[in-house]
Amino acid sequence: MPSGLRGRFAKGTALLQAARSLGVDIDSVCGGRGICGRCQVTLSMGEFAKLGLHSRPEHLSALAENELRFDARKGLEDGARLSCSARLTGDVVIDVPARSQIHRQIVRKRTDARMIEVDPVVRPMYVEIAGPDISDPGETLKAALRTQWDIDAMIPDAVLAPWPEGADGVTVALREEKIITALWPGFREHLVGLSVDIGSTTVAAQLSNLGSGEILSEAGMMNPQIRFGEDVMSRISHIMMNPGSGAELTRVIRRAVGDLAAECAAQAGLDRRDIVEVTVVGNPIMHHIFLGLDPVPLGQAPFPLAEDGPLEVAAADLGLDLNPGARVHALPCIAGHVGADTAAVILSEDPQSSDDVVLLVDIGTNAEIVLGNRDRLFACSSPTGPAFEGAQISSGQRAAAGAIERVRIDPSTLAPRFKVIGSDLWSDAPGFSAAVAKIGVTGICGSGIIEALAELFLCGVILPDGLIDPGKAEMSARIQQDGKTHAYVLHAGPPEIRITQLDIRNIQLAKAAAYAGARLLMNEMGIDQVDRIVLTGAFGSYMDPKFAMVLGLIPDCPLADVSAAGNAAGTGARIALLNRNARLEIAQVARGVEKIETALAPDFQAQFVGAMAFPHESHAFPHLAKVVELPKPGGDGPRRTGRRRSR
Ligand code: FES
Repeated sequence: MPSGLRGRFAKGTALLQAARSLGVDIDSVCGGRGICGRCQVTLSMGEFAKLGLHSRPEHLSALAENELRFDARKGLEDGARLSCSARLTGDVVIDVPARSQIHRQIVRKRTDARMIEVDPVVRPMYVEIAGPDISDPGETLKAALRTQWDIDAMIPDAVLAPWPEGADGVTVALREEKIITALWPGFREHLVGLSVDIGSTTVAAQLSNLGSGEILSEAGMMNPQIRFGEDVMSRISHIMMNPGSGAELTRVIRRAVGDLAAECAAQAGLDRRDIVEVTVVGNPIMHHIFLGLDPVPLGQAPFPLAEDGPLEVAAADLGLDLNPGARVHALPCIAGHVGADTAAVILSEDPQSSDDVVLLVDIGTNAEIVLGNRDRLFACSSPTGPAFEGAQISSGQRAAAGAIERVRIDPSTLAPRFKVIGSDLWSDAPGFSAAVAKIGVTGICGSGIIEALAELFLCGVILPDGLIDPGKAEMSARIQQDGKTHAYVLHAGPPEIRITQLDIRNIQLAKAAAYAGARLLMNEMGIDQVDRIVLTGAFGSYMDPKFAMVLGLIPDCPLADVSAAGNAAGTGARIALLNRNARLEIAQVARGVEKIETALAPDFQAQFVGAMAFPHESHAFPHLAKVVELPKPGGDGPRRTGRRRSR
């Protein structure tokens, strides 16, 4: 056994039975009928001196008829045996590969990420039926389930209709060991489920194999509710000003999820009706609108949730045309501003198991922030606004082809070079113009504006208080008078892309909100330093942590301990899809999270004002200072070469 388990069994015992009696959960869909092939194991041959035994092929029964049939039909893996058919005749050492174990684990690419254990709430079972002429399918199926699987399950009439006449066997979907939610004629090896992350801007879905945990397909689209308002608050306003329109917002998002389900299923060569389980996450307003709960109270203090626990409903009741027995599980919301998406981030990043104090930051139009470790968890949401998404920035745009995403500025000449999405070349590299000829240089996205501002700050063009130093105009024609203030021309165009004083102000407001939120939680926890920072969400993944720290968007921390987790909310939704205990775990963890309401916190304003400066008015950034030469507050920075700013 892979875990080094050892046991004594009577000759003739099936390997499957022996393994299970040692606590090794070997998979089976067919109940040992030699049909599914999920129970394959391999024999380790040779002398095992430590164990004092010799493991030989002849210590297992010869290939049984079941195995020969399976091998001819689907092919046994090299040297493998069906553990339901192979029987012991002597001493053997058996290897149970991960793919044959029920609670197999999925290793994630990031080394600091938790493993996902595949143990879904619904699993397939093949049931042989006595004969083609069945007068009472319900009773026949129940009896077969009892005999073959020792299971007494509820079987709703709708699952039995239409009964597949003439089938020798059916595959059923058994949910929570107690109810049959779907039935197909013949043998079906895998069930599939969908995990959905409903963002205010985009909706993303992944279709997963509920047996192996493998992602089969994924699809995404813009949230069609955008036509009712760019952000969640404007959508609430729309609902308030147009009585009855809430149902329309619910209808469009449900239809979008249905379309994504169909697209994912088609990509995987399946039908949307094959989907038997769905998990959903989203911010509180997206969550409420999707589930048909009134989101309007979430628009004003004290932001009460209609429901904060996990919710489970029939997919059909949400108008989703999936398998008729499919269920939808919505993860719990944490607070009026901290939703099921943050619960999913917690599930993915697992701070509740960490000894280190972890700061999780998900930046969108709000920064959802979680801080803590295995002892305590705090969460808040801070209103960053849409500046990081390119809105409120004069040349801002969403992260799409043509957007400037990386910026470097020469401290002695103030000449910039940059990269745009869609090309790997820097703008000063030969061939750049040809490479971007088709896409063009169209604007600057969130990561680009952060790098531009951080570089301008490091060059002394932007002073710690955020003002562009007019004295730098002598150094470079790129610094130009812009009304009563100044601007920095990043790209001559067309279109011209400039960083204006107002752009800087809007980024200051956004980053100060994020930092103040994090600091509020740190004060609640009584700490001045975090051990690790995890940036989540699309923006967090593109943002260079060094530049984010230079601007003071996140607190000081060793840069090596700042990581990007990508779409952690989507991963959390997938974990809840693949592991039933994860649903219980996050429901419990979410209940215990200590919520801080930034709008009502007396200290927030003071934190916010202090955080307006780059990187901060008074907080030190000692770890950052080891890798970056920061301009000294209130004086000329080490990279400054122009004359002092006069005011
Ligand atoms: Fe299905 Fe062995 S359990 S083939």
